[in-house]
Amino acid sequence: MGPPQWSDLGMLIQNIMLLAREQGLETCPQESWAIWHKEVAEFLGVDPSLMLFCGLALGYGDTAAPINRLRTDRAASDAFAVFHD
Ligand SMILES: Cc1cc2nc3c(=O)[nH]c(=O)nc-3n(C[C@H](O)[C@H](O)[C@H](O)COP(=O)(O)O)c2cc1C
Repeated sequence: MGPPQWSDLGMLIQNIMLLAREQGLETCPQESWAIWHKEVAEFLGVDPSLMLFCGLALGYGDTAAPINRLRTDRAASDAFAVFHD
């Protein structure tokens, strides 16, 4: 289905992230890994013609680290969605 199927990949990644939280793990999706797709393919020993969309850090969060106490703002839902009764 072409470009719209990128949304399927996003949903897959999000589901993995939600399942990780259920298991007490934290995640951080990182598209910047795509810049180093050749190096990553070489390190992992996979076909370099495969597309690297993003990495996903997975592990136990360090709650003592100040950076992990950062909370970013969220737009209110009415800024991007319209709800009809
Ligand atoms: C698919 C995806 C890829 C991302 N890639 C990067 C990235 O390469 N570098 C980066 O700084 N943030 C990236 N982000 C954003 C961070 O993962 C994270 O959402 C951001 O640090 C804000 O954290 P917060 O959502 O908990 O506020 C990405 C987010 C998503 C959903």
